[in-house]
Amino acid sequence: MDLFRKKSLTAVLGGDTNKLNKTLGAFDLTALGVGAVIGTGIFVVTGVAAAEHAGPGIILSFILAGIACVLSALCYSELASALPVSGSAYAYSYVAFGELLAWILGWDLVLEYGVAVAAVGSGWSGYIQGLLEGFGLHLPTLLSGAYNADKGTFIDLPAVVIILLISLLLTRGAKETARFNAIMVVIKLAVVLLFIFTGIFYIKPENWSPFLPFGMHGVMNGAATVFFAYIGFDAISNAAEEVKSPQRDIPIGIISSVVICTVLYISVSLVLTGIVPYYDLNVSDPVSYALRLVDQNWIAGLISLGAITGMTTVLLVMMYGQTRLLYAISRDGLLPKSLSKVNSTTQQPNRSIWMMGIVSAILTGFVPLSRLANLTSIGTLFAFLVVSIGVIALRYSQPTLKRGFKVPWVPFLPLLSAAACGYLMYNLGSATWIGFLIWLVIGLLIYALYGYRNSKLNGD
Ligand code: ALA
Repeated sequence: MDLFRKKSLTAVLGGDTNKLNKTLGAFDLTALGVGAVIGTGIFVVTGVAAAEHAGPGIILSFILAGIACVLSALCYSELASALPVSGSAYAYSYVAFGELLAWILGWDLVLEYGVAVAAVGSGWSGYIQGLLEGFGLHLPTLLSGAYNADKGTFIDLPAVVIILLISLLLTRGAKETARFNAIMVVIKLAVVLLFIFTGIFYIKPENWSPFLPFGMHGVMNGAATVFFAYIGFDAISNAAEEVKSPQRDIPIGIISSVVICTVLYISVSLVLTGIVPYYDLNVSDPVSYALRLVDQNWIAGLISLGAITGMTTVLLVMMYGQTRLLYAISRDGLLPKSLSKVNSTTQQPNRSIWMMGIVSAILTGFVPLSRLANLTSIGTLFAFLVVSIGVIALRYSQPTLKRGFKVPWVPFLPLLSAAACGYLMYNLGSATWIGFLIWLVIGLLIYALYGYRNSKLNGD
């Protein structure tokens, strides 16, 4: 039994297995990255994190989480430019570490995307219901939130509907999706900038004092919590097989989207905590709330609309990434082959799109947002950690492989990246760890009972 059988580079890079259309460039990818990243994290989680964990020191939390992301983004860029194939971290591990770790990572990413989509769907639902309430429209309580006997809610219907609608859009093709995404991203950026440049005039510096009401410990917990806001840029590398010149465009896309988001997040949190005392920020729409507080109701309404748009693009890109991942895993035989079948007219893996859509719709319908967000973060951090180590492993095992982008100061930077991810994971708390470990055990069982036997590498 060989649990560490590796894919050869020719198997990964060459051949006739690539049936997806190559239509995307660096601009599409940056839009895809920003589209995946700015969403529920900045629009919803920031307020809670400031109120409960870090106070105005949330700015430092965003800086720390941003540094961890930039380091991981560099590592992702090297691997994505060297191995431009669907499946990102999963595919890289197949070459660097062998099948068992690749499967664990693939399974971990299925968790990341599936749960993230569910979490963002529920944030989306909160904002849309808030907006409808502004027009006097109320959903029956039973249909307005995930199951909660105390509140009388049973299912989050708007969240289920949006996830199924986006699945439908994805089955129509990557280019349409990327174009739609680019328009939505422009609207989202405009709204974030509108908040910064309106809010800046209402800052009261006394709100920044005390700056660290929960100490550095709070800043660290805050960093682990707001890490959720950065998740998504890795979806870019999942699109690798549809990129025209992947070795140049993927690093540009990944690094520019992380840098853009880091700058915006730091600015938003600076303005937000400058307008509202941190302990008042524990609301479902902190960014709009801040502007309502200073009587900018009109702009606050526009910002709510933008937040809804923002979360829609996050859903779109996350679900896109997920279907590409399932496509890659099933193509390798570790999940049933039917998931990698592409539709002959649209060239899309319709079956995996629908499967993903339905599972996330069920999660978003019945599980509350708070449980979903931290699980997403731990899954992502684990993947980033393995990718960072993967850069070092591949430099030794495949020194001559052509890399469009190289991480400087190897092995120092990748090790620093891995340590930063490990530290943020450590700050996520025991309940999240238990959920994560249960998911990994289920994954190992599936591998033992199905994947190992059906793998394309079996019998090689
Ligand atoms: N980064 C994504 C968001 O904040 C998951 O919605």
